[in-house]
Amino acid sequence: MDKFLIEGGRPLEGRVTASGAKNAALPAMAASLLTEDLVTLRNVPRVRDISTLRSLLDELGVDSSVTHETHGNRLEIQARKLLNPVAPYELVKQMRASVLVLGPLVARFGHARVSLPGGCAIGARPINLHLKGLEKLGASIKIEHGYIEAQADGLQGAPFRFDTTTVTGTENLLMAATLAAGETVLENAAREPEVEDLADLLQKMGASIEGAGTDTIRIRGVARLHGAEHNIIPDRIEVGTFLVAAAITGGHLILDEVRPDHLTAIIAKLAEAGVRVRVRGPHELEVDGSGSLQAADVTTHEYPGFATDMQAQYMALMTQAGGSAVITETIFENRFLHAFELLSMGADITLDGRRAVVRGKTPLSGAKVQASDLRASASLVLAGLAAEGETLIDRVYHIDRGYERIEENLTKVGAKIRRVSKST
Ligand code: EPZ
Repeated sequence: MDKFLIEGGRPLEGRVTASGAKNAALPAMAASLLTEDLVTLRNVPRVRDISTLRSLLDELGVDSSVTHETHGNRLEIQARKLLNPVAPYELVKQMRASVLVLGPLVARFGHARVSLPGGCAIGARPINLHLKGLEKLGASIKIEHGYIEAQADGLQGAPFRFDTTTVTGTENLLMAATLAAGETVLENAAREPEVEDLADLLQKMGASIEGAGTDTIRIRGVARLHGAEHNIIPDRIEVGTFLVAAAITGGHLILDEVRPDHLTAIIAKLAEAGVRVRVRGPHELEVDGSGSLQAADVTTHEYPGFATDMQAQYMALMTQAGGSAVITETIFENRFLHAFELLSMGADITLDGRRAVVRGKTPLSGAKVQASDLRASASLVLAGLAAEGETLIDRVYHIDRGYERIEENLTKVGAKIRRVSKST
C-alpha cells in the first residue's frame, strides 16, 4: 500500500491546472448506458474511481476506450447492448457511486441487479430515496441477498419530492426520467454543478430537461437518446483543496481551467479567514496566503453552501488560524475522522457530535497518520505541508480515488512530497 512522505514548511508558489470533476464524470459515464450510440467524454480525470466505474461498465458488457489527451482523458463509451445487468458487490463496495448505473439500466433495459453498497467511513449513506423515486416512476424494487432487484416494463413519468436533498439520488432519477413516458418533476432536487453538468450532457443526447441547477427539475421523457460529446466541468473540490494548500503554507498560486462561479461559498469563507482569493478571469483564480489567518466558523450545506467535501481541508486550515473556529457538519454524521489524525500532529480540536471546535494557532509537527476517506486524506496532506518535519500518510489509495496526481501537482509548485511504495 502506498504512502506519502511529506516534508513540510515550504510555501507553495506557481500555477496549477484543475482536473475534470470526478463527481461529474461518474454520472456522465452512467448516462452513456441510456443510448446505444457512442458517448464521448473529455476532460475526464485520471483517478481510480473512474477506472472502477469503467470496470463496472465492462462487466455490464459495455465497450469503452480511453485516450490520453493534453488535458485529462477522452473516454468513449458505447452501450450497444447489455450482456449482464448486474453491478456486483466486489465493485460496488469499492465505490458507492456505482449505484448510478441503477436508474439508466432500469430505464433502458427494464432490469437491473445492483449490489447494496454496505458501510461507509463517513456515515450511513442510505440509498432509500433512489429506490423510492424509481418506484414512483413505476419500477418494482426488491432487496434480495444484498442486491437491489429492479424491474420495469417501461417507466412512467411522475412527480417526486426528495425528503432529503441527495446528489446521486437526483442524478439517478434525472437519468431514469429521460426515458420515462410523460413528465417527471423532481422537487427538493440537488443543485450541485455536477447535476447541472449531467443535465447538459443528457440534453445533448436529446433529453428534454428544464430547471437543472435549481431545486425543481422537469423532465419530459423521450423514446430514445442518441450519442453526444461532452466536456466535463472542472473539479471545484480539487481547486478548493489547492486554495487551502496555498493558504496553509503562506504561499501564492494561480489556478487555471477553473470555474470560479462554482466556488463562491469556499472563496467567501477563505476571505473571512484572511485568505486573499482573486478571480482573474472566467477560468482563473489567484490565491495569496501571505496574510495572517483568523478563525472563521463554518457549517456545511448542500450547494450553493459550503461543501461537505471541503470540510476536512478547512479543518486543517483552521489549526493554523488565530482563535476558535466551530465547524458544523450537517450532511454526513461521521465525517470527522481526520480530526483524530490532526490531533496527533499537534492540533487542538474538540469534537461534540456534529460540531468540531478547532483552537489555533497550534504548530503542527510531522507524524505518522492514516487516511480514512478521500477528503480526509487531502486534509492530512495539507496538514503535512504546514507541519514542521516529516509526515508519513498511510492508505493514500483513498486520495488516488479522487485527486489526479496530487503529489506531482504539489511538487511542481514547490512541495516536498513523494509516494513511497511498499517495496521501497
Ligand atoms: C455525493 O454523494 C458525492 N459523491 C459526495 O462526494 C458528496 O460528499 C455528497 O454528494 C454530498 O455533497 C458523488 O457525487 C459521486 P448524498 P452522495 O446522497 O450522492 C442522505 C467525495 O468525497 N441520503 O447527496 O452519495 C445521506 O445519508 C464524495 O467526492 C439519504 O438519507 O451523497 C446524506 O446524509 C464523498 N437517502 C445526505 O442525504 C438517500 O437515498 C446527502 O447525501 C440518499 C442520501
